Amino acid sequence: MTTQPSDPAGLPTADRTLTDRVLASFDATPSPRLRAVMQSLVSHLHAFASDVRLTEEEWAAAVSFLTRAGQISDDRRQELILLSDVLGLSMLVVGINHPASAAATDSTVVGPFFVENAPEFANGDDISGGAAGEPCFYSGRVLSAAGTPIAGARIEVWHSDDEGNYDVQYAQLDGAQGRGRLRSEADGRYRFSSVLPVPYPIPHDGPVGELLDAAKRDSMRPAHVHFRVSAPGFATLTTHVFVAGDPYLGSDAVFGEKDSLVRTFVRHDPGPAPDGRVLGTAFFTMAFDFVLDVADSV
Ligand code: BEZ
Ligand code: FE
Repeated sequence: MTTQPSDPAGLPTADRTLTDRVLASFDATPSPRLRAVMQSLVSHLHAFASDVRLTEEEWAAAVSFLTRAGQISDDRRQELILLSDVLGLSMLVVGINHPASAAATDSTVVGPFFVENAPEFANGDDISGGAAGEPCFYSGRVLSAAGTPIAGARIEVWHSDDEGNYDVQYAQLDGAQGRGRLRSEADGRYRFSSVLPVPYPIPHDGPVGELLDAAKRDSMRPAHVHFRVSAPGFATLTTHVFVAGDPYLGSDAVFGEKDSLVRTFVRHDPGPAPDGRVLGTAFFTMAFDFVLDVADSV
């Protein structure tokens, strides 16, 4: 029996030739970007399969996993984005495209529960829409990196109720809850009320949940409120504000947490609230200033 010659990376020569042939099959791709992306993908995929000595059963299991992830996805659920989230790919892409800047607010994942064209509110409004939870009053400013107020910035907000669910997760719910859009005032300020978000598990009744179980990984995200803040001439910011003291800070299932985004949600005894009402229950206040970078000129 003859042994196959191998190259310095330990690959049989025949396989190295295969990789080179697949790379060359993309040489005539008219788009230079598509060519570069596909050739890099092929190189890394082949190196990965060789590295782990991928078995045929494992290859078939991966195909089945991706097939089931596609089949469970619909316009309310995106299992492949969830896979990207739990593999840290979503946060890697956020980091590549929105590197930390000294002055601007850090970005994090958008997640699967954002809805375009959420209901419009005025400053001071209650955006809870009847969501269950402890009252919380949110306020702050939208600023440029130079510290000047940005008037008329679009602020989009969405968060869970006290069960850890978003409105879109209730099939029977007709209308938004814990979700809305408003604009910063002339001095850059915004304020609204809603409820306090709680930690919640990412959807784990599908293939991604099976993967987390197999790896003995937790599916929980620390409590947070999502914001998307945009204004002409500024880079759109997609971020969260996390609740300080949450037990899942440090173990976010999708690696979206950043220390700079953690804030104390201050608990107040029943009494006068920021909106002028006298509340008979305890309530919370949270303040956060969003700092936007100028948009790239290209
Ligand atoms: C979210 O925060 O809404 C979220 C992000 C990633 C995966 C699942 C949920
Ligand atoms: Fe969320």
